[in-house]
Amino acid sequence: MQKTATSLLENSSQLQLECAIILKRYSSTLKASAKSRWPILEARLQQLLPQLLPLYLELYGERYDCHYHLEQLLKVLAKALAQRPDYLLQEDEDPQQWHKAPTALGSACYVDLFAGDFKGLEQRIPYLQQTGINYLHLMPLFKAPEPNSDGGYAVSDYRKTMPHLGSMPQLAELMQKLHSAGIRPVLDFVFNHTSDEHRWAEKAKAGEQQFQDYYFFFDEQERDQYAPWLREIFPEIRRGCFTFEPHAERWVWTTFNSFQWDLNYANPEVFSAMAEEMLFLANQGAAVLRLDALAFVWKEAGTSCENLPKAHTLIRAFNAVAAIAAPALQFKSEAIVHPDEVVKYIAPQECQLSYNPLLMALLWNSLATRKTRLLTESLQRRFAIDPQCSWVNYIRCHDDIGWTFDDNIAWQLGINPEHHRQFLNQFYTGQFAGSFATGVPFQQNPVTGDCRVAGMLASLTGVEQAVQSGNATHLQFALARIYLLNSIILSIGGLPLLYMGDELGLLNDYAYQDDPHKRDDSRWVNRVAVSEQQLAEAHNPDSLSGKIYAQLQQLIRTRSRLTVLGAGQTEILQSGNPHLFAYRRQLDQQSMLCVVNFSEEPQVFVGAPGSQWREELSGELLHGRSLHLAPYQVLWLSATVS
Ligand code: GLC
Ligand code: GLC
Repeated sequence: MQKTATSLLENSSQLQLECAIILKRYSSTLKASAKSRWPILEARLQQLLPQLLPLYLELYGERYDCHYHLEQLLKVLAKALAQRPDYLLQEDEDPQQWHKAPTALGSACYVDLFAGDFKGLEQRIPYLQQTGINYLHLMPLFKAPEPNSDGGYAVSDYRKTMPHLGSMPQLAELMQKLHSAGIRPVLDFVFNHTSDEHRWAEKAKAGEQQFQDYYFFFDEQERDQYAPWLREIFPEIRRGCFTFEPHAERWVWTTFNSFQWDLNYANPEVFSAMAEEMLFLANQGAAVLRLDALAFVWKEAGTSCENLPKAHTLIRAFNAVAAIAAPALQFKSEAIVHPDEVVKYIAPQECQLSYNPLLMALLWNSLATRKTRLLTESLQRRFAIDPQCSWVNYIRCHDDIGWTFDDNIAWQLGINPEHHRQFLNQFYTGQFAGSFATGVPFQQNPVTGDCRVAGMLASLTGVEQAVQSGNATHLQFALARIYLLNSIILSIGGLPLLYMGDELGLLNDYAYQDDPHKRDDSRWVNRVAVSEQQLAEAHNPDSLSGKIYAQLQQLIRTRSRLTVLGAGQTEILQSGNPHLFAYRRQLDQQSMLCVVNFSEEPQVFVGAPGSQWREELSGELLHGRSLHLAPYQVLWLSATVS
């Protein structure tokens, strides 16, 4: 198998022939592994091996043992298909574009903080349903080192859960129940690294070469072929991206914490092993896998080792694997990188879903500056994606807010990006006079001056300050900011993702500062527990939580009857007013115009002459060319025929 991927791709009949030969050669082994599902596997391989093979060859075609590893991989697929539960097999038959529905709504939660354990979460299904959630990301719940596991993102065993949550079979049961309740479960595929307690890492520490080859074990000279070009992710916790491993007396690649060991995907055995873990998770019931830290998965000396072309090849290869053994499975990209790089992960054959960190960061920017130019200019360039794919639009998540906008666009607008980032960090961490926000700095880098921000939605929008000062006007503004942000993620196009607790306006939790294992990681300020009592407040119209929840519900309900807000195309408009953000949604003959006022002052939007609108949130009919927006007002306008 010496042919390169390019030569195979150039000649499709040769590719077909190559695939037919492979299928024939391995059919008896695969038949034995796939058991009664062999006819399904055979049909899928006939269709999809031509997709997988060139990718696989691009990654491993130069290796003498490529064929052997390909056979191992195909066996993994066959076994996984044999074990796929019937109910998931049915979903495989009918993969739909569920994320395009105007009712599609996601949420992310830590099982323990939200509900104690898997059983507790089952009891909260009615709350999720009543909130309108039909996509639920269960934050990392796998066996991990204690007490610090980077919030679960250091996995010691992909097939075991943290004992205090329940067992893997209990998780599988919970996920089936979520499916039956119309809620798609989402799990993390933490595939860039394992914890240093994973059995592969333990064997590597014990000196087994086979498992040292799963990771990057370097002497100093090898390390230095990479080290100078790498970005530091957690500089406050540890400098550099390598950790000295005393047993092996070598340096191990650790992009994140020292206990998170990066996997070496140049080794095809790692690919097969992780494909097996991935399909295991799919077979437990995950409808979506969130590809954690996917920008880092391929390394090459002398590069930044982020967003390399082969990272894309690798993800596409995983996708082809999933398409064969678990077609209903979708991938969500977690690329919190430059906007030009974020969009490259989004494609039907790579990640069908992607966090939208640009929208997230620039919404916060517009709230701070009361201006929408950077938001508008940036999204005009970077919002359009393949129509089969969807953005996952979020305001907050379990991580920090990083200011990942495009410096060139900032310069064009006369904004110095470096100074502006400093301003934003100061604004959101209470160091800027007059700021409404209460956030916490995250990972200040003493060398680059880089910094990010952590905090809950309500604290960052001003609720925390307003509650403390008792200022009713400030509180009103803070609630209006929450409404405004929610209205945008619910209408701009894509799957809106709420961060658990934000729907109730829960505030920062500073208890992490007293916990020696959390103290160094300020993201814990926005990882808060949700009690029974707090949930009950959702229905108390006199409580702050009740008000925030009711406002959100009104947006969700209104959106659910407007199909154009689901599958419609999005056009970001120049609003003609520096404080207004405007976009149009279009689906066949239906069209909607959304206008948002980011300032505390009334603003005017000048529309087309003779326009007549129905404002969907209030039901009001609006006429005339000029639309008047109150402070922080949101308009969802449907054109009406006069
Ligand atoms: C992702 C996670 C983050 C974690 C990192 C390393 O960015 O969201 O919480 O620290 O990956 O796994
Ligand atoms: C990823 C993201 C970065 C984030 C980190 C964990 O590396 O790129 O923005 O801060 O994970 O928080």
